[in-house]
Formats: sequence, C-alpha cells, structure tokens
Amino acid sequence: MSTTSLVVLGIESSCDETAAAVLVDGVVRSNVIASQEVHRAWGGVVPELASRAHQENIVPVVAQALEQAGIGKEVIDVVAFTQGPGLIGALLVGTCFARSLAQSLGKPMVAVDHLKAHVLAHFIRDEEVRAVPAFPFINLTVSGGHTQLILVRSPLDMQLLGSTLDDAAGEAFDKGAKILGLPYPGGPLVDQHARTGDPRKYALPEPVVPGLDLSFSGMKTAFANLVQKGIRTDPDFIARELPHLCASLQQQLVDALLRKLSKAARTNGIKRIGISGGVSANSALRSQATAMAEREGWELYLPPFSYCTDNAAMIAMAGHYLHLAQQHASLSTMPVARW
Ligand code: KG4
Ligand code: ZN
Repeated sequence: MSTTSLVVLGIESSCDETAAAVLVDGVVRSNVIASQEVHRAWGGVVPELASRAHQENIVPVVAQALEQAGIGKEVIDVVAFTQGPGLIGALLVGTCFARSLAQSLGKPMVAVDHLKAHVLAHFIRDEEVRAVPAFPFINLTVSGGHTQLILVRSPLDMQLLGSTLDDAAGEAFDKGAKILGLPYPGGPLVDQHARTGDPRKYALPEPVVPGLDLSFSGMKTAFANLVQKGIRTDPDFIARELPHLCASLQQQLVDALLRKLSKAARTNGIKRIGISGGVSANSALRSQATAMAEREGWELYLPPFSYCTDNAAMIAMAGHYLHLAQQHASLSTMPVARW
C-alpha cells in the first residue's frame, strides 16, 4: 500500500444487510454482504431480528472484507459507517462497531447518510472501466425504503427535488408481490413474472401528485382491489393471470417514475441522469429509461447491480469524499433513524 493511498473501511447496517467494504483511493478492494434470510418467513423485515443478525454478522463480515482486500486493520485511514436513515437498532450495531474500531485504531470516522451513498454509488471504481456522471446531474434513487429525485451538484452538495409522499418504489413492488402471494422481497419476482405478461392488460390509476413528488399508495390499493375482485369471480385468478398482473403493476410503477424523472430533467434543464438503489435492477425500468434517454438525448448512468442494492462500497465511497472534505464525526455520534 502506498503511503499516499486513502484506505476507507465502509460499514452498512441500516436494514437487513450487514455489509463491509474496503476502498483504496475510491477503488473497490472488497465488498462483502451478509443478507439476512431470517425475514423471509415473516414477509418483511422484523427490526428485532435484524439487530440480532447484525450483531452476529458484523465481526465476521468486517474480518472477511479486510481479508479479501489483503490488508490488516492498521492500514485503515478512516472508518465510514451508515448513520441513518434506517432501523435504529440495526444502525446502532454498525455505529457502535465503527466507533470502537476507530477509537482502538486511533483513526477518524465519518458518519454517512445512506441516501447520499446510494447516489455516490455512481463513482465507485473497480476493474471494469465505466463512465461516471459529470456535475450537475439528476439522480433518481429508488430503493425499498426511499424514492427521491436529487439534483447532485458535487459529491457533497445534493438538493432534494422531490420524493415519495407514502410508499417507496421498492415497497410498492414488494407490497404488490405480497398481494399476489409472492415471498418477500417480491420486487425481483414481479420483474421475473412480468417478462411474459402484457403490461397494459390491467389499468391502475395514475398517481396525481404536484411538482416532483411521487405517491404509490393509491396504486397499491387499486391493485389489491383488482386482485380481490378477480378472485371473487375466479378462485384461480392469480395463478392464471400472474404474468399480466406483474407486468401491469410493474409498468404503472415504471411509468410513474419515468414521468417524474423526465419532468425533473426538463424543469432543471439537465440531461445527465443517474438511477440508483435496489429498484434500478428492475429490467423494465432499465430498458425503458435507456429508451427514454435515447429519445430525450440524455446521458444515462446505471451503476452495476452490486452497487445498487444495499452495500458497503457505497458507504465507503461517501466516506472517501467526507474524509477528503475533513467532515469527520465525533466519537459520540449517534445513529439517526429519520433525518
Ligand atoms: O436499495 P435496496 O437494496 O435497499 C434499500 O435501501 O431499501 O432496495 C431493495 C428494494 C426491495 O424493495 C426490492 O424488492 C427491490 O429493491 N428490488 C427490485 C428488483 N430488485 C430489487 N424491485 C423491482 N425489480 C427488481 N428487479
Ligand atoms: Zn438502501
């Protein structure tokens, strides 16, 4: 390791993934994720179980990240951890671990906003050569817990343009999947079943929300009513119509997201667009955003899937920028469930 390299250890524990990553000068050396399978049986994340699983996983996950990076903990320059938003008990595990480690190493630490880290996923580098967005750009962050349109002026200067007023996009996918009896998290399954379905077979109400905010709860209720009505006349309705139901739900969600993304680009006069967060793995969103980019003349940036869903490489990337800006956290920093 050169003495001028910046070695960042990132730690993520905001929801149901315990993750640790090592970045050297912004380049990934390791990116370890332990996903918590325990929630599957409950149809959603159970906070108490998440905290317990983080406690069990954090030490081995960090050890594995250091081992895969081929470094000892003494060469870490800064410890970055997710301060929030997220489940308070889950965040507490990562925060306490990061604090103890930074203190024992005598190194600084930085407190990362998980949502800003999702945006900074665009800047993570690895062996694959990828273009990164120049500033300013507009990012659509679509995850299980959040849906935001953000004007990104620099790595640390972001302005919220709009966000969901109720459910997040991933939550809408997951709740729709639950209505169809699919296991949690249902987003990827909806995507899979939708591939052979007709996306215009079932119409759902288009959310009417002013400005650049979004709303998905009305769509979810309409979808639940549609499915219940179908079952009343045909008990095999879901089994028979599954691909069409998935494709229709997915299409309405993608339409709503892309409509607002396009509006954000137009009103801000910006044609550099990023999409990140777990839902950016959705195949319809990816292909339709790519088609829209061609029509509108956008430069479109979609990070690789492993940096889109919750991961610690993005936390380390945010930590890299915060450290360079000398924005360190005190050892008494506490997690924050909501900003
Ligand atoms: O970013 P993420 O890993 O975690 C949060 O910060 O919330 O996002 C997880 C969300 C889940 O709701 C999951 O169902 C959704 O992303 N997701 C998808 C797909 N892959 C993951 N939704 C639709 N289609 C997908 N292919
Ligand atoms: Zn996330």
